[in-house]
Amino acid sequence: MRILLSGGAGFIGSHTYVELINAGHEAVIVDNLYNASDRVFQRLEAITGKPVVFCNADVADKAALSEVFQKYSFDAVIHFAGYKAVGESVVKPLEYYRNNLDTTLTLCECMREYGVKRIVFSSSATVYGMIETMPLVETMTSAGCTNPYGWTKYMNERILLDAAQAMPDWSIALLRYFNPIGAHESGTIGEDPVGIPNNLMPYITQVASGKLDHLSVFGDDYNTHDGTGVRDYIHVVDLAKGHVAACEYLMEHQGAEIINLGTGVGYSVLDLVNAFQRVNNIELPYVIVDRRPGDIATCYADPAKAKELLGWQAEKTLDDMCRDAWRWQSQNPNGYRD
Ligand code: UFG
Repeated sequence: MRILLSGGAGFIGSHTYVELINAGHEAVIVDNLYNASDRVFQRLEAITGKPVVFCNADVADKAALSEVFQKYSFDAVIHFAGYKAVGESVVKPLEYYRNNLDTTLTLCECMREYGVKRIVFSSSATVYGMIETMPLVETMTSAGCTNPYGWTKYMNERILLDAAQAMPDWSIALLRYFNPIGAHESGTIGEDPVGIPNNLMPYITQVASGKLDHLSVFGDDYNTHDGTGVRDYIHVVDLAKGHVAACEYLMEHQGAEIINLGTGVGYSVLDLVNAFQRVNNIELPYVIVDRRPGDIATCYADPAKAKELLGWQAEKTLDDMCRDAWRWQSQNPNGYRD
């Protein structure tokens, strides 16, 4: 298969690129490098031993994207491109709605014009909102999102579900990611947040490297086994393999499917901190502070549908996630900016 990866230079996109090539597929990366570095490409070439095909284009730019579709024929599209910072989305809602919806609409218009009928969309467990019944199953009705970023994921799912209704020969997979962490085991590609990280694992790795002084644990009074928030952390390489399985599934099936990509196991903030310390033999100073507004106590997937439809399940352990995240951070203290 030849697959267009929108946002393919980013954290999940770059790992998915590797797994697609490993599985014998071809990929074309389309990215405007708004939140990614062109230095990732030489790393991808070193890992795969093949030249990267990259188009520097904004996925919301119809003329630029049309040129890509004109130049290559695609069997499927994986759509990662979009803004992704929850806190920033609250401050810049118009930018988030404009960018995250325009990219999807423009991509779908090009697909329709050029006869490409398979799309995998990068959705998020955030669309379940404040549901308190665990595990989260794809059939549950969302309890509403808590921020504009989440709503853009929700709206993009709606757009694609409606597109599937109107165009029954399309094949669509809406993949709801839980909490992707870790990095490729080479330590050469990984998550590279700009500024102070918002998410737990990049924050932990920067405390471990001494860039940040200590971790703030947001609340220890949740109704969980140790009082700290519980999440379904999934190794980014497992997540990437889920995308390959989804593309292969779409080759054989029409219609739209919503599919959780998680492990089905929840770990607390302190479980992650303790595993990181043990596996990497590094002490992590932390303090307990107030809850972060908008956080929920617990969030983990029912991953049964992914196993049933895609034949996919997460294989890597929390220890693998901690080891690989630290390998990436310690080998690249400034991410791709070294
Ligand atoms: N946490 C801390 N300290 C920090 C950062 C996080 O204690 O410095 C805690 C949070 O309170 C939470 C857990 O670590 O309990 C995980 O927090 P993250 O920010 O890493 O992840 P979230 O679960 O809040 O959000 C993530 C993605 C969102 C996505 C959501 C889907 O960042 O994009 O999962 O459920 F929408």
